[in-house]
Amino acid sequence: MDTPAAPAATPLLDARNLHKSYGDRSVLRGVDLSIRPGQVKAMLGPSGSGKSTTLRLINLLERADQGTIEIDGQRLGTVGGPGSERPAPERILAKQRQSVGMVFQQFNLFPHLNATRNVMSGLTTVQRVPHREAEERAVMMLERVGLGAHAGKYPSELSGGQQQRVAIARALVMEPKLMLFDEPTSALDPELVGEVLRVMEGLARDGMTMLVVTHETRFARRVADEVVLFDDGVIVEQQEPEGFFENPQSERTKEFLRHVH
Ligand SMILES: Nc1ncnc2c1ncn2[C@@H]1O[C@H](COP(=O)(O)OP(=O)(O)O)[C@@H](O)[C@H]1O
Ligand SMILES: [Mg+2]
Repeated sequence: MDTPAAPAATPLLDARNLHKSYGDRSVLRGVDLSIRPGQVKAMLGPSGSGKSTTLRLINLLERADQGTIEIDGQRLGTVGGPGSERPAPERILAKQRQSVGMVFQQFNLFPHLNATRNVMSGLTTVQRVPHREAEERAVMMLERVGLGAHAGKYPSELSGGQQQRVAIARALVMEPKLMLFDEPTSALDPELVGEVLRVMEGLARDGMTMLVVTHETRFARRVADEVVLFDDGVIVEQQEPEGFFENPQSERTKEFLRHVH
């Protein structure tokens, strides 16, 4: 075993004071979230509390009304230095987006492409990696998520758990600095949840920095370094798992945990 690295001074993700409204509905009301390199954060919270919106802002699928997001010290969504910042053009956004991988509840695979083609599609279209090299990297990544034997299969020939592992491989093959998971097991039959969580646990063990929205409290407890509770557009509690589940500080967390247990 390697000795653990000294804690890095710069967070890998540093989101500050995020605000987002849809019409007159205020969905995020000042969210601060930072993750150190190699850290795993689990995000819990009731439906509608702003978890997915937070991930969509971090992945630049949407723009915050207010607040800043930095990945590895680089400000996302804008170009220009302090004082002369302006919204980044789509070309820059596309580049910045590549530092973040995202896995959704619905796997969003291309139905007309086999597993290998699904995994390599971003490499060839976005990163312009030559076909042959992209294919090799895709197959290697499928092996890493335990799907080496299924590389030629189409999504319709795979179980939900296998499809979600293809989606994870597709995100990983782009070599992101940060992986976002939005309820990755919520659409799965219960017997398929474990195989996806095991892949995620392996990633965490290998040092991937991860932000995971999940209802799997046992997973959060075992794998996360910190657990965050969202409620009504704000973070109401943030603690290491033992404290979060055994000794929550906020009344809101206590109430939330009474409902999930
Ligand atoms: N594109 C949108 N337009 C309008 N309202 C939205 C949109 N996206 C999300 N919302 C609203 O924002 C709130 C928070 O949503 P979301 O971030 O998806 O919550 P969570 O993931 O915690 O369930 C919800 O009330 C939802 O209806
Ligand atoms: Mg959601």
